[in-house]
Amino acid sequence: MSATSSRDPRIGVFDSGVGGLSVWREIVRQLPGCDTVYVADQAHIPYGPRPLEEVRQFAEGIAAFLIREGVAVVVVACNTASAAALHHLRRRFPDIPFVGMEPAVKPAVQRTRNGTVGVIATPATFQGELFASLLERFAQNVRVIPQVCPGLVEAVEAGALEVPETEALVRRCLEPLLEAGIDELVLGCTHYPFLRPLIERVVGPGVEVIDPAPAVARQVRRVLEGAGYSEAALSVGIPRHVFFTTGDPAQFAGALSRLVGVTAKVDRLMWEDGNLRAERK
Ligand code: DGL
Repeated sequence: MSATSSRDPRIGVFDSGVGGLSVWREIVRQLPGCDTVYVADQAHIPYGPRPLEEVRQFAEGIAAFLIREGVAVVVVACNTASAAALHHLRRRFPDIPFVGMEPAVKPAVQRTRNGTVGVIATPATFQGELFASLLERFAQNVRVIPQVCPGLVEAVEAGALEVPETEALVRRCLEPLLEAGIDELVLGCTHYPFLRPLIERVVGPGVEVIDPAPAVARQVRRVLEGAGYSEAALSVGIPRHVFFTTGDPAQFAGALSRLVGVTAKVDRLMWEDGNLRAERK
């Protein structure tokens, strides 16, 4: 599209589960005129411990579905899928812009006062080339400590945000980082912002917690502006938000209301030979 469009763009957003809603809510806050389509691949959650190649195949199937839904941009609201598949998706679907997640190493390195930064993310996120390249580009004179946090994605999926078991998991995962003396903590998985109050309690006021979602939403705006959408199309209107899961729609609807205060119908998607199709009722 070259001329300015007043049509509301649709933004596609996906994650393995509810984590991407931490990015979705920021997109909706910054782009209140845009429609959205959200896909949660809960049939395959968690992505984090899976081989990158497998996550890449899921990401490709979901992106193809979102493109068939007519989205103007696809937001890979999942650090794991971004690490595994972002370059591949851009090559495979060259006509659609993709916005991905990456651990916010750059701002953390800029802000650290003592030169020690912690990053929490899934194993696959740390394995990808993306993380290695972030360290190479931005972390020359700073110690960046990667830490995986087994169980946290599952706790957020289960809605167990403020229970003693989750607090114990958070303490166990952050302990080595606190012992190392970090003063910046990067949330490198989109599920973790829902645990932010708990994480902030555990790390205390001396550690700044960084969530990249606001920066990602700003990037989505830049991409849509670049595609010719007008300020009015991005900011004004009554948006339509639709939600799909490959898991249990009732469970996802409960999480939607608990995590982001949205009441909406959720539709089921089925995987069939690597492709997604909506279940006919
Ligand atoms: N929310 C995802 C991320 O940002 C991954 C969670 C998972 O499925 O392991 O990495």
